[in-house]
Amino acid sequence: MAYSDKVLDHYDNPRNVGSMSSADDDVGTGMVGAPACGDVMKLQIKVNAAGVIEDAKFKTYGCGSAIASSSLVTEWVKGKTLDEALAIKNTDIAEELALPPVKIHCSILAEDAIKAAVADFRTKQQADGACPAVVV
Ligand code: FES
Ligand code: FES
Repeated sequence: MAYSDKVLDHYDNPRNVGSMSSADDDVGTGMVGAPACGDVMKLQIKVNAAGVIEDAKFKTYGCGSAIASSSLVTEWVKGKTLDEALAIKNTDIAEELALPPVKIHCSILAEDAIKAAVADFRTKQQADGACPAVVV
C-alpha cells in the first residue's frame, strides 16, 4: 500500500515522541487500543493553569498511519484549550494525512487517545477538588 508523503514525513520524523509522568496532576494520559489490529497508542497532554495544552507526547505501537496520526495530533493540540482539542475529528486527521479507507481506524485511534487524555486530566482535577485527603 502506498503511504502519502505526509504520513511518511511523520513516520520518518515523528514529532513529540516520549512520555511524561502520568502521576503529575497537570498531565492527562490517554491509552487506547485498536482491537482490529492490536495497535496501541499512548498520548499525553500537559495542561497549564489557564487550561491550555502546553505540551504533548505520544508513544505508539502500530502501523505507519497510527504513528503519523498520533504525531500529527500532538502538534495540533499544543496551544489549544481542552475543548478545542476535543473538537479534533478523526476525519480532519485522515484528510490531512490522506489516509486510505482501510487506514481510517488509525486516525480514530488518535481521536480516541486525545479524548481519553482530556478525560483523564479532568478526572484528576475533580478528584483533587472533591476529595481532599485527610489523615486522622
Ligand atoms: Fe491499526 Fe493502523 S493498522 S492502527
Ligand atoms: Fe477521600 Fe481518599 S477517599 S480522601
